[in-house]
Amino acid sequence: MSKVVLITGGSSGIGKSIGEFLHQKGFTVYGTSRNPERITNSVFPLLTLDVTQVSTIQTAVTEIIARSGRIDVVINNAGVGITGPLEEIPTKEIKNNFETNFFGPIEVMKAVLPQMRAQKSGLIINITSIAGYMGLPYRSVYSASKGALELITEALRMEVKLFGIQITNVAPGDFATNIASGRYHAPVLSGSAYEKVYGQMLRTMDEHVDSGSDPLDMAVAVYQIIQTSKPKVHYKVGAFMQKFSIVLKRILPDKLYEKMLMNHYKL
Ligand SMILES: NC(=O)c1ccc[n+]([C@@H]2O[C@H](COP(=O)([O-])OP(=O)(O)OC[C@H]3O[C@@H](n4cnc5c(N)ncnc54)[C@H](OP(=O)(O)O)[C@@H]3O)[C@@H](O)[C@H]2O)c1
Repeated sequence: MSKVVLITGGSSGIGKSIGEFLHQKGFTVYGTSRNPERITNSVFPLLTLDVTQVSTIQTAVTEIIARSGRIDVVINNAGVGITGPLEEIPTKEIKNNFETNFFGPIEVMKAVLPQMRAQKSGLIINITSIAGYMGLPYRSVYSASKGALELITEALRMEVKLFGIQITNVAPGDFATNIASGRYHAPVLSGSAYEKVYGQMLRTMDEHVDSGSDPLDMAVAVYQIIQTSKPKVHYKVGAFMQKFSIVLKRILPDKLYEKMLMNHYKL
C-alpha cells in the first residue's frame, strides 16, 4: 500500500521537488497551493490551502482522508522569508511572517494529529532552516520563526510518541528556489542609519539563495527519513560550511562565534 503524503506548499521550490520525487517513488502525494489554478504542470494533485486560514487546512485534510482514507506523512514545508533591520520592519510584517512560518505549521499539525492518533501511526516533517539555529543579522525574524518551530517540534515529539506518531525537523541551508522573490524585504530606506549595510546584505543574501543547493537534495533527504523507522530529532541538509556553522555555535564561546558571523557578513 503506497504511503499517503501531504506537502504544504507543493507549487514551487523545495516542496515541489519533494512532491515530484515521492510521486516518482510511488507515494500518493497531495501538494497544496494558495492558488492551485495557476499551476498547470504539477505531476501530483494540488489542493487549495493557505496555512494562515485554518478552514482551508481542515478542508484539505478532510478531502485527503475522503479520497485516500489516511495520512501517513505530513511535510510542513510552506514558508516565507523576511529580511530587514529589525528596527525598520513593520510589526505587521513580523506578525505576518510568524503566521505563515510558525502558527501555520502548528495549525497543520493540529489538523492531522487526530487522524494520526486514530491510525496509531504518522510522521510529521517540519521544514525549518539552518538560520533557525542562530540569530542572523537582517534575518532576525526569519531566524526566530524557524527557531521557534524547531522547539515546538522537539516538545511535541515527546507528547505524541505514545500514539505511534513521529515528528522531526529538517533544516535546509541555502537552496536555489523562488524564496528570495517571494519574501518580504523591508525596503532599503534612503537616509536610514542601516542603508549602506542592509543594501549590501540584501545583495549577499540573494546571491546565496541563487547559488544555493539543488532542491533535489532535500527531496532525497526527506525520502530517506520516511524510510527510517526511528527518525532523529534534527536533520540538516545543505552545504558543509552551513551545517558546520551549527557545530561551531555549540563549541565556540559566544563572542567568538558572533565575531565569526560578523566577519562572514562583513559587518
Ligand atoms: N530556499 C532556501 O534557501 C531555504 C532555506 C531554508 C529553509 N527554507 C524553507 O523551505 C521551505 C520551502 O521554501 P522554498 O525555498 O521552496 O520557497 P518557495 O520556492 O518560495 O516555495 C514556498 C512554497 O510555500 C507556499 N506558501 C507560501 N506561503 C504560504 C501560505 N501562507 N500558505 C500555504 N502555502 C504557502 C508556496 O505556495 P503558493 O505560493 O503556491 O501558495 C510555495 O509552494 C520554506 O519553509 C522555507 O522557509 C528554504
